[in-house]
Order: sequence, then structure tokens, then C-alpha cells
Amino acid sequence: MQIFMRYVHIVSAVSAVGGLVFLSVCLSPATRLLDDGFSDTWMKMIRHRFHRVVWISIGGLIVSGIYNWAMLAGVYKAMGPVGGAIIGTKVLLAMILFTVVWLGSSGILKPKAAQMINLHLAAVIILLASVLRYYRLEHLQSLIGG
Ligand code: HEM
Repeated sequence: MQIFMRYVHIVSAVSAVGGLVFLSVCLSPATRLLDDGFSDTWMKMIRHRFHRVVWISIGGLIVSGIYNWAMLAGVYKAMGPVGGAIIGTKVLLAMILFTVVWLGSSGILKPKAAQMINLHLAAVIILLASVLRYYRLEHLQSLIGG
């Protein structure tokens, strides 16, 4: 089950963040070559379909993330303030990212602005996940005297 949930977490993050990078770095700039009338419809259709992928990925991230957190809560506690601070900040930023997705898809925030904010948030969240994993494994290694 732990392997499956880790798999779901990684696949969801890869699908949503990979799609976001492709959309922002490749597709949006290339769309400027198209006629104004056509490019608006084109981007609207792509964003509409991409949002479906994003909402499914968010579901996967929340379910697997809460499961992973519950499984690792004991280790984070044993790590002291560092464990709590990193997982707390990661989850807080994830909540902000989900809110920005909602603001973008409901038209409250411009889609391009939402895209750019989330690109940066995702980069920080993935960095925090890497740092957390490093300290968690280092802590476990110190317990077994490695
Ligand atoms: C409700 C939201 C979320 C929760 C509760 C959550 C929780 C977790 C937990 C507990 C871990 C394990 C860290 C460790 O190895 O000690 C993790 C790993 C990870 N998370 Fe999340 N996460 C959430 C959202 C996100 C989002 C939005 C992203 C991407 C933008 C993300 C990307 C990752 C990545 C790449 C890993 C490393 C996977 C691995 O090495 O197993 N997470 N997350």
C-alpha cells in the first residue's frame, strides 16, 4: 500500500506539474503565432481539458499525501522542529497552489497569472519534498548508527 500511495503521489505530481511546464514554456508562447480569434479558442479548449487532468491529480495528491503523512508522522515528530516545519510549509504551499488552481479555473484570476504563480509554488513544494526526504532518511540512518 505504501508503494502504491507513493506511486500515486509521484504520478499525480508529474502529470500536473509536467503539463503546467509544457503549457507555460512551450504551448502558450507558440500560440502567439496563431490568429487572435483562433488562438483564444485554441487556448481555452486546451486549458479546459488540462484542468480535468489537474483536478484528478489534485485528488491523487491529497489522498496519497495524507496517507504518506499519516505513515511518516512518527518519524517527522522524532526529527524535532525541522520535520514539522518542512512538512507544515509543504502542505501549506500545496493548499495555496490548489486555491490558485481554483481561482484560475473560475476566472477570478487570469489563467496566465495562475499558471505562473503555480509554476513557482510547485518548484518550491518539490524542493521541500526533496529536503524532507533527505533529512528523514538521514535521521533514520543516524538511529541505526550508519
Ligand atoms: C495535501 C497536499 C499534500 C500532502 C499532504 C503531501 C504530503 C507528502 C508527504 C508526507 C511526502 C513524503 C515526504 C518524505 O519523503 O518524507 C510527500 C512527498 C512528495 N510530494 Fe507531496 N504532499 C502534498 C502535495 C504535493 C504537491 C501539490 C506536490 C507537487 C507540486 C507534491 C510533490 C511531492 C513530491 C515530488 C514528493 C516526493 C515523492 C517521494 O520521494 O516519495 N506534493 N508529500
